[in-house]
Amino acid sequence: MTAMLRRTVASALLATVAWGAQAQNLMDDGKKLFTQTAVPACAVCHTLKHAGATGEIGPVLDELKPDATRVEKVIRNGLGQMPAYSTLSDAQIRLLAQYVAAATQ
Ligand code: HEC
Repeated sequence: MTAMLRRTVASALLATVAWGAQAQNLMDDGKKLFTQTAVPACAVCHTLKHAGATGEIGPVLDELKPDATRVEKVIRNGLGQMPAYSTLSDAQIRLLAQYVAAATQ
């Protein structure tokens, strides 16, 4: 193997590992936001299998399968009985929205 090829293979492997770790963070951090950090917790009102949530007030997210844009909008603005979450940071809202979309796709 040439040195250049070795370097290419090594960086491709590193990129895969880094991507895997990032995806893991998204799922772990998102789940925590969904079940604990957001107040009131999303899990109180929504069913989402990945988060172990069985709330029955809002739509079942596993069935609704919303994309991240839709989730982000409702977290920021609220809808009907669902409150808007002004206590979450932009980064938290984006992560939570990506998590719900990823967990239900
Ligand atoms: C107090 C209960 C309650 C909590 C807490 C709650 N929701 Fe909801 N959610 C609802 C209800 C009720 C609806 C349906 C609103 C309607 O259609 O009138 C809804 C709708 C939604 C929708 C669909 C929006 C759409 O475009 O139709 C998404 C996605 C959603 N919630 C995600 C979340 C997330 C993420 C959290 C946590 C940050 C959360 N919800 C917290 C009650 C709740």
